[in-house]
Amino acid sequence: MQKLTGNKKKNVAVFISGNGSNLKNLINHSLKKKSKFKVCLVISNNSKAKGLYFAKKFNIKNKIIKYSNIKIAEKKAILELKKNNIKLICLAGFMKILSKSFIKKFCGKIINIHPSLLPKYKGLNTHQRAINNNERYSGCSVHYVNQKLDSGKIILQKKVKILKNDTSKKLAKRILKQEHLLFPKALNKVLSSL
Ligand code: GAR
Repeated sequence: MQKLTGNKKKNVAVFISGNGSNLKNLINHSLKKKSKFKVCLVISNNSKAKGLYFAKKFNIKNKIIKYSNIKIAEKKAILELKKNNIKLICLAGFMKILSKSFIKKFCGKIINIHPSLLPKYKGLNTHQRAINNNERYSGCSVHYVNQKLDSGKIILQKKVKILKNDTSKKLAKRILKQEHLLFPKALNKVLSSL
């Protein structure tokens, strides 16, 4: 169980679809005394997401919600968010697009981590596209989610140099390391202003 320091920590939910390395990292940060958040809920659209293991390991409530019908899925998600008094939603490798009405409902309360230096390379396959375009740098961004894909206000970014003979796999690995530093920092920053 996570230790709470008084009642200061704010409840956050993390949405995932896959490996969950960012989720694991956020959970570890949340256990620190100075952290402003507590991960109280994990939602995955994928029952096979490896990240679910971390939720279970740390005894965090986790829900698998199929997104085949987005209306039904979001209704279920909203219910869970309310039940758990969630103040902020973190998208950490969540590969589904949220509906406009869901985003409107949680305006300013959803943040996402994206593996590029936004506004460059929105969407998928970011690393290969950056390499193909002979970019000198790529990186990662944490941003607010608005109704346009990967276009909300940027909270924090970190540059990562693209090396000679880089592959998308190698670059992804180096960027992921930086994501793990950036996401908790951005989350704490957002929560201090809530
Ligand atoms: C991360 O690189 C994240 O930035 C990316 O998926 C990966 C998830 O890794 N997100 C997106 O591409 C969203 N468009 P993780 O499951 O190990 O945290």
